[in-house]
Amino acid sequence: MEVLSKNIKILNHPIIDNNLAIIRDKNSDCERFKNAVKRITYMLIYEAAKELPTIEKIVETPLEKTTCRVFDNSAQVVIAPILRAGMIFCEVAQELLPFANVHHIGMYRDETTLEPVWYYDKRKEIKQNKEKVFVIILDPMLATGNSAVDTIKNFISKGVPEKNITFVSLISSPEGIKKVSETFKDVKIITSTLDRTLNNKGYILPGLGDAGDRIYNTPD
Ligand code: URA
Repeated sequence: MEVLSKNIKILNHPIIDNNLAIIRDKNSDCERFKNAVKRITYMLIYEAAKELPTIEKIVETPLEKTTCRVFDNSAQVVIAPILRAGMIFCEVAQELLPFANVHHIGMYRDETTLEPVWYYDKRKEIKQNKEKVFVIILDPMLATGNSAVDTIKNFISKGVPEKNITFVSLISSPEGIKKVSETFKDVKIITSTLDRTLNNKGYILPGLGDAGDRIYNTPD
């Protein structure tokens, strides 16, 4: 794993590389693509969950009592997939964190301005103790960083502390990482790989093309 700064982790791993080769290949069909993403998602979510709060619990094995660590269920974990591509991470995230709330974020990218256009925000306010709310935002592509910044701002405006927000992506661009990390010093970014740059349409190079189209088999 490459730690670019204390809050930016690039997982870089042979299992990731092997699966990225499938994901990037334009000849991989939808099924192959999704299975390869799934295998990487486990690693991303394990890493994102590393700093969720835990407590001790006494468990009785068949032989004796022992102290175990379990998630602190007084904390609220929110999984926030950015529609539509972010849904690709959701099944695994829910499998690993079954107690989490799923807060869908609906936004698409205006093709001219590359700015995000909101159309859905599941929960208008967060009523719990905000210090105990932990948000994991899911989007496979951290490209311009505009959608990421808007989504993070949305959670901060609802009272979630920056330090409790983690942004998870499959592929990131240097531009996107820079934008998010310079805007929010305490937000964590976990990505499986860092690509070269963006093209003039805001696509990541070499990337994988349009993630939503690859996942849902909707070519132009
Ligand atoms: N969104 C995508 O789906 N692909 C990119 O390369 C950038 C943003």
